[in-house]
Amino acid sequence: MNNVLLRGIGLKKTYTREGAPLEILKGVSIEIATGEALCIMGSSGAGKSTIMHIMGTLDQADEGDLEIEGVNIKNLNDQQLSQFRAQKMGFVFQFHHLLNEFTVLENVLMPFWILKEESKEAEARALLSRVGLMDRLHHYPTQLSGGECQRVALARAMVKKPKILFADEPTGNLDSQNGLIIQQLMFDLQKESGAALVVVTHDENLSQKFSKKLKLQDGRWVR
Ligand SMILES: Nc1ncnc2c1ncn2[C@@H]1O[C@H](COP(=O)(O)OP(=O)(O)OP(=O)(O)O)[C@@H](O)[C@H]1O
Ligand SMILES: [Mg+2]
Repeated sequence: MNNVLLRGIGLKKTYTREGAPLEILKGVSIEIATGEALCIMGSSGAGKSTIMHIMGTLDQADEGDLEIEGVNIKNLNDQQLSQFRAQKMGFVFQFHHLLNEFTVLENVLMPFWILKEESKEAEARALLSRVGLMDRLHHYPTQLSGGECQRVALARAMVKKPKILFADEPTGNLDSQNGLIIQQLMFDLQKESGAALVVVTHDENLSQKFSKKLKLQDGRWVR
């Protein structure tokens, strides 16, 4: 594949449950190209979030390799890894994980603060405008609806112009109308930014929008 952005090779992950090993990923490989959109499916407990967390460097595989832009993440120390993650990746989860004591604008600026970089407020405002929340900049997350919070989370995920946006059940907590709004914004922002998009979902309506889909079953990809 040309333009490989992320490559996972033989990823294995085993958890222990009630003293017994539980093999969740049995040697899973994956390639994601620059700008590509990919949907990961599979039943509950199949390991979708597990592999997404490993690809996003939020968790580590027991065995196997993960290369991002040709860099094997095993060669990075913890600090380099968190920098790498904050610079190159954006995340949206089922629950928005916004910080309630900060305003909408502050939440979107948070990635700059975490990296101790100069805040690009114009960038944050442009994204909040893009997701239709310009009149909510100084509101707090508790003052917003679930769909609005998820739009803030999406703006926060995109503000550093990530190379890859990971979304784990981004519409899982929303009604169908708000789910559609998030879907559309996610695809639009992905196209505009040229980021790759990896979505984990049960939502048929969402998965139908992807030409590339992978399904996890019994620790491996299945057809
Ligand atoms: N830290 C952990 N310790 C033990 N078992 C775990 C841990 N994290 C996940 N598991 C187990 O690993 C399996 C895969 O979990 P994962 O969250 O990846 O599933 P999933 O495909 O995302 O499911 P869902 O669709 O319900 O979100 C599950 O059986 C889960 O209980
Ligand atoms: Mg999950």
